[in-house]
Amino acid sequence: MTIQKLRPTFTFTEDRLRQLQQVVPEAFADGKINWEALREALGEHLEDETQEHFGLTWPGKREARRLAALPPQGTLVPAPGEGVDEETTHNLFIEGENLEVLKLLQKSYAGRVKMIYIDPPYNTGNDFIYEDDYSEPLEAYLKRTGQMDEAGRRLTTNTRASGRFHSKWLSMIYPRLLLARQLLREDGVIFVSIDDNEVHHLRQVMNEVFGEENFVETFIWRSRLGKGATSKVTAKLHEYIVVYGKSKEQLDFLGDIRITATDKKERIRQWGQGDRREDRPTMYYPVFSEEFGWIYPKKPDRTDGRWRISKSEFEKLQQKGLVVFEKQPDGRVEAYRIIPAGTQTETAQDSILDTEKVKTTAFGSKEISTILEQNVFDYPKPTTLLCFLLELLNDKSALILDFFAGSCTTAHAVLAQNREDGGRRQFIMVQLPEPTPPDSEARKAGYATIAEIGKERIRRVIRKMKEEQNGQLPLPAAEDGQPSPLDLGFKVLKLTRSHFKPWAPLPPTDAHTLDSLFEQHASPLVQGWTPDGLLSEILLLEGFPLDSRVISLEGFGENALRRVHHAEVGHKLFVCLNEQIRPETVERLKAGEILGREDIFICLDSALTDEAKVVLDDRLRLKVI
Ligand SMILES: C[S@@+](CC[C@H](N)C(=O)[O-])C[C@H]1O[C@@H](n2cnc3c(N)ncnc32)[C@H](O)[C@@H]1O
Repeated sequence: MTIQKLRPTFTFTEDRLRQLQQVVPEAFADGKINWEALREALGEHLEDETQEHFGLTWPGKREARRLAALPPQGTLVPAPGEGVDEETTHNLFIEGENLEVLKLLQKSYAGRVKMIYIDPPYNTGNDFIYEDDYSEPLEAYLKRTGQMDEAGRRLTTNTRASGRFHSKWLSMIYPRLLLARQLLREDGVIFVSIDDNEVHHLRQVMNEVFGEENFVETFIWRSRLGKGATSKVTAKLHEYIVVYGKSKEQLDFLGDIRITATDKKERIRQWGQGDRREDRPTMYYPVFSEEFGWIYPKKPDRTDGRWRISKSEFEKLQQKGLVVFEKQPDGRVEAYRIIPAGTQTETAQDSILDTEKVKTTAFGSKEISTILEQNVFDYPKPTTLLCFLLELLNDKSALILDFFAGSCTTAHAVLAQNREDGGRRQFIMVQLPEPTPPDSEARKAGYATIAEIGKERIRRVIRKMKEEQNGQLPLPAAEDGQPSPLDLGFKVLKLTRSHFKPWAPLPPTDAHTLDSLFEQHASPLVQGWTPDGLLSEILLLEGFPLDSRVISLEGFGENALRRVHHAEVGHKLFVCLNEQIRPETVERLKAGEILGREDIFICLDSALTDEAKVVLDDRLRLKVI
């Protein structure tokens, strides 16, 4: 009997190794990499280490990469009461340090996120840059959140004078991008807001992480309307949004969509010289007009012009009566296609964003002041900008992640856009409980941290939308876990220590100490663990998304049995965390009345007799803690 033990595992490194193994299987033997074989497989493409080579490097890069590959030490526990409609919603707000959170999400969310939007600190010289602690990332987080110096200054502000200014920023962003990429679907996309302080480094680092071939665009966003400070040589009025696809080929982007208000005419004859798309031989063909007879641009005499559309397309339009010919004053006959009013047209999205549509930072501030009644957050993005990005994706049920959530503009935009177009998009916000400065408006208004601002904003947006629904209640979530038509809810989870005791190698010691160490490790769980907290850790370890439905099953006496399922996971989990599992419960599980062969039953190791374990292991997939 080999009953599986449920223990914390980390899939980031494992997943990448698995991917490598798929491409270069010959470099793997017995689960290990054969470096020589890999080297041979790569052959001439391998960079000669003795030569200079191209790429971005900075002091601390190796450590930053290593940091991404270190397993997480924490877990996420629900904070009931802080969200809205927590039992049925699919939207999440996670309070915590995003590197650790991104690691914890790997198993449940790898390849599931359609869009990531982040608005990280721009490294302006006044920014708080979270300096990762390599030895104890989680402990440092738990100790540090809430820390300010006496003057209320953030302890980790990255000033230009503090040295290694760019390196610190790069070491912060690099491991987070590495982990974020793993969460994206193959047709997923990442948008990163940034300005001139780091845009050049960001592009290079993203070329490395996402591949230069997956670079899509650097949008230019006019973030301010007025003039900048006059003392400067130039007035800075714009920022950037850098866009990469996980795989650009698979990206499904909608262009600039417009609906024509009136009939429009579009010229379909191209005049003049020059190499244009229309210059292909297939663009020269005769066309008959009742009024003007045969019109045929003659090749190679280009003075007659050429058609802009293919012959078959021309004929289709003509059959529908959507082509007109008009004689010009100079004698030329011009051909037009008619675009009837109400037609949806699409052109490639401009790289410079339309300010009318996406608005500016000032609009974002106005939105915050309206919703929260005070200006409690500096430089929020406008929801209009985020709605524009959401609309670019040809996917109304996308899962959207923002792990520098701030005041949660992204969550607000997801809710607003869903209401606008009937979408079922879901959001995951991640935000550090970064303390607000002591004398700030935010602190005076009672917001101790930025996370509190974000949560309150979402609550208020939801409240307002519910009021506006005029008492029309949204339909409850269906049993299959699909979101209800308009999901006006969110659930809060917080980063904290794992419920599993940290693994540490045993030091050389005497028999007595060893005995007590074994005793301590008899249960792998820390003292004071709670079933609800442990359940969400089990979801993360078993690869179940955090919006999985959890249902308490009746009829098992004092045994609390819960069934977990999610529409995107093929099997269910059955979890019982009682100290003892009653023989009657074992009997019912054995009878197979509630769970299938693929389903997993999880309980404490000590809760089952050896005999019961054998019986159950035979009937279902059993994992013990
Ligand atoms: C520029 S703001 C984002 C603003 C947001 N787009 C909005 O419209 O409100 C960046 C946010 O990232 C948060 N942050 C910085 N480092 C973080 C980390 N390591 N983990 C989680 N959040 C972090 C900061 O507290 C800050 O609120």
